[in-house]
Amino acid sequence: MYMPDSLFTGKIKIYLPTTSSTNAHAMELLAKTNPSEGTCIYTDFQSAGRGQIGRFWHSSHGKNVLISYIFYPGFLKVTDQFYLNIISSLAVRDTIMSYMDDVTIKWPNDVYVGEQKISGILVQNVLRGSQIKATVIGIGINVNESEFPSELPNPTSILGVIGRETRLDDVIQLLSSRLEYHYLRLKQAKYRDLMSDYYGALFRINTVAKYIDTEGNEFMAAIHSVDHQGKLILHTENGEKLTFGFREIHYVI
Ligand code: BTN
Repeated sequence: MYMPDSLFTGKIKIYLPTTSSTNAHAMELLAKTNPSEGTCIYTDFQSAGRGQIGRFWHSSHGKNVLISYIFYPGFLKVTDQFYLNIISSLAVRDTIMSYMDDVTIKWPNDVYVGEQKISGILVQNVLRGSQIKATVIGIGINVNESEFPSELPNPTSILGVIGRETRLDDVIQLLSSRLEYHYLRLKQAKYRDLMSDYYGALFRINTVAKYIDTEGNEFMAAIHSVDHQGKLILHTENGEKLTFGFREIHYVI
């Protein structure tokens, strides 16, 4: 497989055999030192891996990519911070597409193969006033995982899809290169191109499907768009336009 390289992303690598969470470690590094842009922290095992909405991120020892990257997107307005989720999910999708087809981004930034989740991303920004001082982009990609906790609704891994093991170092190299590519596009203010790539990759775009709101109401709708703040805009069957934040809507899969 052709292995593209990056200039600064993932060039400084901090490997920890185990840690509580690579995101937590990156945040501590940022608080105490001045890590250079593109530094990454990766591990074989997290005892307190963080998922979205305070959830735990499950990953067996040495089986998967568990990595956090540090960037300084001082050029980005706080109100545009959702673009960091966009570039991360595009980079993960590109990486996984080197191994398989039918890879999409489930809003806001899960990566899916068919109807199964293969990767999760946790972006944590350090803000100073109206500026983004730093960002930690934490990425978990299920690579060689074969057993998942039963409470996870629909997980899969690269192994689960292609039926053979993949070297974690290869996945990390590809990921670093794709993340750098999309980060530099963001730095060049290519907002429209990034948004159009994101829509092109979005799970269930232009499809009527079932959703549940926080009150437990089920309804059929189609994704209309994602607004500036990263909110999901749905068009219901009776012509209503509804806007949802991350915790406010559940996809029925
Ligand atoms: C999700 O809930 O989908 C987001 C999961 C993010 C997991 C990754 S694994 C590496 C990094 N360190 C963490 O503690 N979380 C992220």
